[in-house]
Amino acid sequence: RLLIIDFGSQVTQLIARRLRELNVYCEIRPFNAITDDDLRADPPQAIILSGGPASVTDKDGPRAPQAVFELGVPVFGICYGQQVMMDQLGGSVEAGHHAEYGRAFIAPAPGHRRDGIFAGLFQDGREEVWMSHGDRVTEMASGFEVIGTSPHAPMAMIADESRHFYGVQFHPEVHHTPNGRKMLENFVQLAGFTGDWTMASYKDEAIRKIREQVGDRRVICGLSGGVDSSVAAVLIHEAIGDQLTCVFVDHGLLRLDEADQVVTMFRDHYNIPLIHADEADLFLDALDGVSDPEVKRKTIGRLFIDIFQREAGKIDGAEFLAQGTLYPDVIESVSFSGGPSVTIKSHHNVGGLPEKMGLKLVEPLRELFKDEVRALGRELGLPESFIGRHPFPGPGLAIRCPGTITRDKLKILRKADAVFIDQIRKHDLYDDIWQAFVAILPVRTVGVMGDGRTYDYACALRAVTSVDGMTADFYPFSHDFLGETATRIINEVKGINRVTYDITSKPPGTIEWE
Ligand code: XMP
Repeated sequence: RLLIIDFGSQVTQLIARRLRELNVYCEIRPFNAITDDDLRADPPQAIILSGGPASVTDKDGPRAPQAVFELGVPVFGICYGQQVMMDQLGGSVEAGHHAEYGRAFIAPAPGHRRDGIFAGLFQDGREEVWMSHGDRVTEMASGFEVIGTSPHAPMAMIADESRHFYGVQFHPEVHHTPNGRKMLENFVQLAGFTGDWTMASYKDEAIRKIREQVGDRRVICGLSGGVDSSVAAVLIHEAIGDQLTCVFVDHGLLRLDEADQVVTMFRDHYNIPLIHADEADLFLDALDGVSDPEVKRKTIGRLFIDIFQREAGKIDGAEFLAQGTLYPDVIESVSFSGGPSVTIKSHHNVGGLPEKMGLKLVEPLRELFKDEVRALGRELGLPESFIGRHPFPGPGLAIRCPGTITRDKLKILRKADAVFIDQIRKHDLYDDIWQAFVAILPVRTVGVMGDGRTYDYACALRAVTSVDGMTADFYPFSHDFLGETATRIINEVKGINRVTYDITSKPPGTIEWE
């Protein structure tokens, strides 16, 4: 295995992700959770030291266990990791003054070697990299030579080939360092990894960890019908069978036939014990007359927690709550006084529940990115049509119905949404789009159908491309597609007589309408 020692960088998980892409098994351990003895007792095959927010010029700042440099295995220090390596091996680091953020170009050092992790680089005479540092190395430890320099980091790439120790000032793990992957690939190759690790091995390892954590105790899993909670549920069921019970809180704000599909799939197909709390009336009555988006969200969130708690209370002796939290949902940082501290996005559906109910968390997906969760879902045999589904927000159709929500509007919205998605699938565009849906607008407009006047709702189509939901652009449908879809919606959905297309990007817009 490859060990990543984490000094708290926001992008440490990206290193792990790149290694998984190279089919290499890795583990991330916070710097303060691993000792010299741990390392000597069970030495990894190679070590990567991550970046981090601290400064090595601070005498009490984080350090790597000294054994890292004594095991005789290849070591790759990234950013703070490079600085800590220099500091611990006898070089010098200077604080502040020469910060570099964003794109930079590395020039090859005169007489440099292109070996080890730097093999195959500088094809164009320089290397584009992504920098994010305040401190920099000013004096190398003995045995090292400079391979490349940037305007503000004279030792941006360094190597001690005899020991296979490497350091870089920039971040090879981010996309903005085009040859970063090549450096990581070179590193794992010289460390002797054969690249035979797969998602199947990840699954086996995750199952082993769940069994170890849970033992013979019981787990409750909140199922939303989305990909993340579904993959988590199926994985946990594979690990501990009927010690798992799923609770599906149906708030009546799901898409056409969605609730039935969830129940059929989990109860009938996977044989997973499932409580279906059909509480549409309760939610819709509570939302009656509510038009403020935040009040909608809070009302749904509060009721969701109440119902979940009520249903979970019926499961005897449950000690764990399973969640499909993904890595991007988690902002994890290493705190220097204690262990990693965790903040979860405020819109997470069951936030606050574990403390309230005295439950411990099982989060088997928290190291993974969305596309990796999909790969794991495939490994678990979930149907492709289900795995590739667009994200759907916890508050459901409520936030696609600006203004007040009525049963009538929801019915119209569901039908229009189904037609839009059908169109997208028919034109084979579904997988090119991050998310697509219809919002029903709180406006009625005049139209003419046949010889009669209509006075019905207007709706907006929304379809965006995105990589992570943080930024997005509208999807460039052809005019023919838009025209055909508008005609179908107006003909097939009673209650809508006008269709618009939302061409706002994010930012400044958001993907959802509320
Ligand atoms: P926005 O609208 O903020 O959405 O651009 C970004 C992504 O997040 C989803 N979203 C939510 N997901 N609970 C969720 O589970 C929520 O409250 C929530 N609000 C937005 C949205 O669908 C998009 O994928």
